[in-house]
Amino acid sequence: MDGGIAAVAIGGAGLLSGSLTRTFGRNRTAAPKQSAAPDPVAAPAPAVAAASVPVGGSAQVKDPATGDAVYIVQPKAGQYCAFSSVCTHSGCAVDAPRNGQLYCPCHGSRFDAATGAVVNGPAVKPLPRYGVTKDGDQLTLGPLQS
Ligand code: FES
Repeated sequence: MDGGIAAVAIGGAGLLSGSLTRTFGRNRTAAPKQSAAPDPVAAPAPAVAAASVPVGGSAQVKDPATGDAVYIVQPKAGQYCAFSSVCTHSGCAVDAPRNGQLYCPCHGSRFDAATGAVVNGPAVKPLPRYGVTKDGDQLTLGPLQS
């Protein structure tokens, strides 16, 4: 007789527990949900050997945040900078720098390879610029600056 009462009491506690769980939305036995958020550990910044960026030339890397191509350039000896390859006119990919300029083949905009400034429209905004740090023979892409 006592066992039957205990079973009813335990069963009632289970019902109450399930009711509270539904009421407050917590179920401690459920597996944790997988988050769709990106991994908080950032990917390493893209880097290239400085020797691969000659004066007047460039090396192409990708912005890890957008996947867009970025040119790391050396317009003058020892001066490194980086510009998005996405033309500010309508988003075409500009060519690698030549003769001190980056040329957009879509509508002919030209940008200064040392500053990203518009040399010739129709674009009116400069190319977005990134930081570049040099450590030994390595150039590392920095954050977007503009
Ligand atoms: Fe580059 Fe138009 S998209 S000039």
